[in-house]
Amino acid sequence: MALSHSIEARPIENRYARGWHCLGLAADYKDGKPHALNAFGTHLVVFMGEDGEVHILDGFCPHMGGDLSQGTVQGKSIVCPFHHWSWGGDGVCSAIPYTKRIPSKAVVKSWPVCEENKLLFVWNDPENNAPPPEVAIPRLAPAFSEEWGDWVMETWTINTNCRELIDNVSDMAHFAAVHHVPIDYFANVFEGHKATQVMVGKSLNPTAEGRLTTRATYFGPAYQITEMSGAMGGFPVASILLNCHIPITLNSFELRFGMLVRRLEGLSDEENRQVIQTYVRLIQQGFYEDVAIWDHKVRVDNPLLCDRDGPIYHLRRWYQQFYVNADEVADVTRQRRLFELNEGLALTPQLHHVFEE
Ligand code: FES
Ligand SMILES: [Fe+2]
Repeated sequence: MALSHSIEARPIENRYARGWHCLGLAADYKDGKPHALNAFGTHLVVFMGEDGEVHILDGFCPHMGGDLSQGTVQGKSIVCPFHHWSWGGDGVCSAIPYTKRIPSKAVVKSWPVCEENKLLFVWNDPENNAPPPEVAIPRLAPAFSEEWGDWVMETWTINTNCRELIDNVSDMAHFAAVHHVPIDYFANVFEGHKATQVMVGKSLNPTAEGRLTTRATYFGPAYQITEMSGAMGGFPVASILLNCHIPITLNSFELRFGMLVRRLEGLSDEENRQVIQTYVRLIQQGFYEDVAIWDHKVRVDNPLLCDRDGPIYHLRRWYQQFYVNADEVADVTRQRRLFELNEGLALTPQLHHVFEE
């Protein structure tokens, strides 16, 4: 009797990836109100003080546990709703209404924050090191260009571990099976904190003509930018997708999907908006197709792969660099590696990351 392959899955380690995590549009947090953020297995508060800077602090007050996201922003501080202790953006208690003697330990963790491409990011690092400059979020010129529309953004809560989402980078075979997009050409490029997928396939839109080429790069564990070129209704459409997530717990994450589309000349604002909406709906459908699988599948550490599957094992080694201490990252997880699966396309795209030539 032939030996069967048993699925193995170790318990998920209680650790969250080191890296920048996108929280969606920065403007959404700039209303002078505190915002609750459940992320990395904990509870945080996001707020902008009168200095115009957005801060993220641990969300529970160390005095007696008040929820700072239920408090109020006053000046540069967030004031706890329970006994009105004030906490500055640096996490240091700046005032207590009924004493002058602030305990020296009255400090909550302040999380590194950055704003880029009109998006807000928070830095997670279990070792509490500062974000190294080489993993800074690259600037995306279309986010600031008049020739492009504004971000259109959608958010969902997904109830599984975020590794399932990352597997998509290398899972060539699921695009035809799950998303009904046969792939003519597929490649992965891994290098440092970047992992790129290059794909040429039929367009996502059944009414669209020709081929769709996408180049998608993860910058770190949770922020992916995709450049797409395709056609819709006879027009060439250039678009940029944002796919980012933030783990809520080990078994849930918030998935954000955003889109920028270059305005089509000759179309009114309204017509442009409709093109974008149609595109967004198609991509959204794609995510639902993945979710339908994730809702029922099990975690597999030792997938049984075959010839012409993508490099899932290498992808996971790359991804593992974000789950070990910075000085324990194995070289093999950061070396430049190329994988190509060509289904007979004569012209193969260049193998590089998004924002590189
Ligand atoms: S619990 Fe926050 S001030 Fe007392
Ligand atoms: Fe997918």
